[in-house]
Amino acid sequence: MTAPPDKPRDAAIKRCMDPALLSELHGLCFDTGWTAQSFAGLIASPAVSAFVVVSTSEEARGLVVLRQAADEAEIITIGILPDHRRRGLACALLDHALERSAADGIAVVYLEVSEDNTAARNFYRARGFGETGRRDAYYTGADATRMDAIVMALHLRDNTDR
Ligand SMILES: CC(C)(COP(=O)(O)OP(=O)(O)OC[C@H]1O[C@@H](n2cnc3c(N)ncnc32)[C@H](O)[C@@H]1OP(=O)(O)O)[C@@H](O)C(=O)NCCC(=O)NCCS
Repeated sequence: MTAPPDKPRDAAIKRCMDPALLSELHGLCFDTGWTAQSFAGLIASPAVSAFVVVSTSEEARGLVVLRQAADEAEIITIGILPDHRRRGLACALLDHALERSAADGIAVVYLEVSEDNTAARNFYRARGFGETGRRDAYYTGADATRMDAIVMALHLRDNTDR
């Protein structure tokens, strides 16, 4: 894993229980947004945690949502507003999620990313994730194009004793 950039000094990470804010941020980060109801359903589960990265003026710039099950975790979504990318904000959010997962005894963190999402694949690789599999035609694009998902994983600790 490459060293994380210095956490931007004007950014803080906060737990978020506001489905409308999560939906708004997600809709600005992705072509296909998720409804506030979807986020409400997700964060109603005690296994799911959502965090936002905010500026000193409390403006939210991005989100991460993760789900834990036994000693595994899944990054359900992560995104940074387009005008605030390449400033280390996703690194700060992901590292926060990984630190929380490690403290909770999580051994491995998984995620799925569209094969054509070069920025995200580079981002995850830079944070130490390796590609472990592929799900055929997993995503449907806005123009109905089917895209494979790449499954990526990061081991936080040795899990050979499972
Ligand atoms: C992927 C995403 C979350 C990265 O957010 P970000 O805040 O710009 O990422 P960071 O600034 O923390 O980048 C950390 C490192 O990741 C890599 N990286 C990030 N964006 C990249 C890009 N567009 N191209 C190549 N490498 C990239 C680089 O190694 C970067 O370090 P550097 O800037 O010093 O070169 C952001 O592009 C995004 O929100 N995309 C849309 C939503 C999305 O696709 N989410 C992932 C779904 S699986």
